[in-house]
Amino acid sequence: MYQSLIKLGILLAAVVWLQIGMASPDPEKVVGPEQCAECHDVETGIWEETHHSITYESMPDSDEGAEIADALGIDDVVEAELCQNCHLTLQADGGDPEVIAGVSCESCHGAGRDWVDVHSEEDKTEEQAVTLWAESEAAGMIRPGNVYAFAKNCFGCHIVAQEELVDTGGHAAGSEFNLVTWSQGEIRHNTFTTPENNEASPERKRLMAVLGLAAELEGGITALAAVENAEGDYGTAMLERMNRAKADLAEIAGSTDDGDVQALNAAVAGIEFSVPMDAAAAEQAISAISAAAQVVNSGSADLSGLDELIAAYGEFKGEPLE
Ligand code: HEC
Ligand code: HEC
Ligand code: HEC
Ligand code: HEC
Repeated sequence: MYQSLIKLGILLAAVVWLQIGMASPDPEKVVGPEQCAECHDVETGIWEETHHSITYESMPDSDEGAEIADALGIDDVVEAELCQNCHLTLQADGGDPEVIAGVSCESCHGAGRDWVDVHSEEDKTEEQAVTLWAESEAAGMIRPGNVYAFAKNCFGCHIVAQEELVDTGGHAAGSEFNLVTWSQGEIRHNTFTTPENNEASPERKRLMAVLGLAAELEGGITALAAVENAEGDYGTAMLERMNRAKADLAEIAGSTDDGDVQALNAAVAGIEFSVPMDAAAAEQAISAISAAAQVVNSGSADLSGLDELIAAYGEFKGEPLE
């Protein structure tokens, strides 16, 4: 009884994690990149050159995509919900959902229907702005300023938490994804507030370094707890990934004495990863990490000790538009 309650708990935790981090936005609420482009034409132009946008055509056309589909008995990757989840954006205007784009604005910023008009209100006092942003977030907007929320969202797709897709389909379980380097290369579109497409500030990059690992650990632990075939590539890849993320976080904690980061590291340091991971241990680990990460996310700690480490992360993933 107790065991099955725990199993239910971890299932619910997984569902919640997937919902928060969930890749594909609700088709009923998707407005589509063309609407965003009406006011964000420069950002849209940058996005159009990214793998995220291009996957709309490139993935269904690729031999690798066809091989994965064959192995899974899928006829059409564009029609397959499994592939749609992470590669495509769907929109339903009352009728059946239709594929309208690759990974698009709303895959990262949240489906826009209920917040587009709210967030774009220009004539507002500072006080009204606070209310309008709160309303936008309540209506599903993921703001870039909420580093933890958008980090979780990236890992909703970049941890490929689909055992059959990986073990039977031969799909990658995900690359070594570093939130700093992966967000500051081809993805970068900081062209709205200033025209220069500046890199994220040092403060933001420090938060990304820490919270990217927290989000990765939460997603990976959820995945580990659900592994069915302990011998498969999927389980092995997730285990390696978690041990690597844990070591990276320990290294970060070694570079700053900030109490919030120390607390986050303490929540992770004692975890023993295994395939599959015990459901109760996983549930406990995820809630401890999540609680500590939220403190880091809302804190204004001085994490400047991390700058040397961050500089050593190396090249950004893809070329940013200068
Ligand atoms: C009618 C014009 C308009 C449309 C359409 C529009 N935006 Fe905006 N957007 C704005 C304005 C104006 C701001 C700046 C608001 C401010 O800073 O007070 C903004 C700001 C943003 C920001 C920065 C938010 C922040 O936290 O500071 C993001 C992200 C964003 N928009 C995404 C989108 C996405 C995604 C879409 C499509 C789903 C979209 N916008 C559609 C006008 C628009
Ligand atoms: C959980 C999210 C997720 C799901 C589900 C998913 N993919 Fe992917 N896929 C990714 C990510 C992330 C990458 C990029 C891999 C990387 O470098 O991390 C990728 C890369 C690929 C690539 C290599 C890049 C390219 O476009 O040629 C192919 C092919 C591919 N996926 C096919 C599929 C097919 C077919 C399905 C459905 C059967 C599918 N994927 C389902 C997340 C997913
Ligand atoms: C892969 C996820 C992703 C996609 C896709 C994406 N964004 Fe963003 N967006 C972000 C992140 C992350 C930031 C903050 C970047 C940073 O701090 O370097 C951001 C920042 C922004 C900003 C604020 C820019 C500034 O100058 O401050 C706007 C506006 C915006 N995005 C609009 C859009 C629109 C419109 C689209 C689609 C055409 C889009 N985004 C697609 C993740 C994404
Ligand atoms: C809806 C799922 C989804 C979300 C959310 C998402 N990605 Fe991706 N991402 C993908 C897929 C799928 C690919 C591979 C596309 C392809 O090559 O066909 C990819 C590719 C990339 C690439 C190019 C990798 C390469 O091989 O060059 C970068 C960089 C990247 N993502 C960064 C990010 C960042 C940073 C975030 C969060 C701000 C993010 N992604 C959020 C699905 C997603």
